[in-house]
Amino acid sequence: MARGRTKYACSECGQVSAQWVGQCAACKAWNTIEEELVESNPRLAKGGAKGGSGGGVAMIARKAEVRPLSDYVETSMRRLPTGDPEFDRVLGGGLVPGAVVLLGGEPGIGKSTLALQTAMRALGTILYVTGEESPEQVRMRADRLGTLEDRLLVLPETSTDAIIDAVRGVKPALLIVDSVQTLHSSRVESTPGSITQVRESTAELLLAAKPLQLPVLLIGHITKDGSLAGPKVLEHMVDVVLTFEGDRHHAFRILRAQKNRFGSTHEAGIFEMQHNGLMPVANPSEVLLTGGVDGAASGTALAVAIEGGRPMMIEVQALVSTAVYGTPQRSSTGYELKRLHMLLAVLEKRCGFKIGASDVFLNIAGGLKINDPALDLSVVAAALGSSLDMAAAPKTAFAGEVGLTGEVRPVSRLEQRVGEAQRMGIERFVVSSLGRRKIKVPAGIKLIEVGRVADLQRVIF
Ligand code: TYD
Ligand code: MG
Repeated sequence: MARGRTKYACSECGQVSAQWVGQCAACKAWNTIEEELVESNPRLAKGGAKGGSGGGVAMIARKAEVRPLSDYVETSMRRLPTGDPEFDRVLGGGLVPGAVVLLGGEPGIGKSTLALQTAMRALGTILYVTGEESPEQVRMRADRLGTLEDRLLVLPETSTDAIIDAVRGVKPALLIVDSVQTLHSSRVESTPGSITQVRESTAELLLAAKPLQLPVLLIGHITKDGSLAGPKVLEHMVDVVLTFEGDRHHAFRILRAQKNRFGSTHEAGIFEMQHNGLMPVANPSEVLLTGGVDGAASGTALAVAIEGGRPMMIEVQALVSTAVYGTPQRSSTGYELKRLHMLLAVLEKRCGFKIGASDVFLNIAGGLKINDPALDLSVVAAALGSSLDMAAAPKTAFAGEVGLTGEVRPVSRLEQRVGEAQRMGIERFVVSSLGRRKIKVPAGIKLIEVGRVADLQRVIF
C-alpha cells in the first residue's frame, strides 16, 4: 500500500496536529497523541475534505442548493421496530433508515445479546457482522435466544471494504457490526482498534449506509472510566449513542440514550438478563424491591427514583461503622461517590453527626446505577439510620434533593413518584417542605414535609 502523509491525532478528542506533542492542545489530555498514517484517499480528496477528523466524509460531492427552509417538509420516517418494547422506547420508536446507532457498554454487560436478539426479531434480512466471535459462537448464543430464521445472515469479517461489499450484495434491512473496535480500513495504516482505524471505519460505514437508507447498529466497548473506547469524534459522527449499564453480577440493565438525533434522550429501557436473553422489565419497582416495603433493617431507606421518565422504587442501603484503618473508607455502588461524600459532609456539618471517622458503604439494591438527585434524601436517611442503628418507620419512602446548606429541595414529577409509592404500598412519603407545588395526594398515603436534613431524625424514626 502506498504510504501517505503522517499526522498526529488525539485519542481522546480527535484533535489533529502536525507534529507529536505531549499534551493535546484541544482537550489538554496528556499522552493521548497517536501517530496516524493516512493514505491519500481519492474519495475524500475530491470532496475537499480538510483535516481528517472524519467529519470530512460528510462533505462529499453532491452540490447542494440554497433554498428556503419552508420548502422542506418533514418526511415521515419509516422506523424499523427492533421487536423489543424497551429498545424501541430508547430509540424513539425503532431504527431510522440510514441512521447509525452506537451501542456502548462494558464487556459482558449484554451488548451482543441485545444486538443478536434484535437481529432475530426485527423484520427483513439482517446482516450480522461478527469480528470478535466466530459464527459458531454467535450460533450458540442464538440458540439460547430462540428460533433462527434464514433471513439472519452472519459474516465473520473485520475489513470495512468487505463489509460494504457484502451490504451492497445482500441489501439487508439492518446491519449489525460487533464490534466497531475490530474494524479496519485499508485506507489507513494503523492497527485495528486504534483511534484512526475506528474513526475511519465508522466514517466509511456511515458513508455507505446513508444513500442505502440502511440502519446500522455498531457495538462499541467502553473503557473503565465509562467513555467509549475510541475518539470522542465517534460519538459526534454517529446519529445515536446508547449506553448499556448495569452490574455484571446482577441481572438488571439500563439502556440509556446519550445522544439521539431522532428522539429524546430522556428515555431509558430496563432489562433483566435471563438464561434465554434480555427480557424487558415493565414494572421496575416490583422486581427491584424484593424486600417489600415494610422495612426492618437499620440503614435502609426506600426511594422513588425516576429513570427514563419512569418512576421506580428502590432500596438504598448504607452501612456506617467505625473505621478499621486510619483513613475511613467510602464506597458506593449504583450511586455517585462524589455525591455521597457531599451528603456525608452535609450530615456532619449541618446535623452534627460525627461520621468523619467512620467507614461508609452505600449500595443501591439490584445493581442499577441511578442518577436521579431525588435519591439524596434516602441516602441521608439510610446513613443516619445506620449510624444511629435505628430502622425507619415501616412503609416509608423518600424523595428529595439535598443542598449544601442542608436544605431539602423539592424534586421533579412528585405526583408521579407519590403515585408509584402508593401503588407499592407506601403509607408515609417524605418530601421537601420548600416551595412545593400542590399535588393531588392519593388516598392512603401521607406526605411528610421536611425543610432540612436536621429535621429528618425527628420524623422518620
Ligand atoms: P454478551 O452479550 O456476550 O455481552 P457483551 O457483548 O456486552 O460483552 O453477554 C454477556 C453475558 O450474558 C454472559 O456472561 C452470558 C450472559 N447471558 C445470559 O445470562 N443469558 C443469555 O441468554 C445470554 C445470551 C447471555
Ligand atoms: Mg460481545
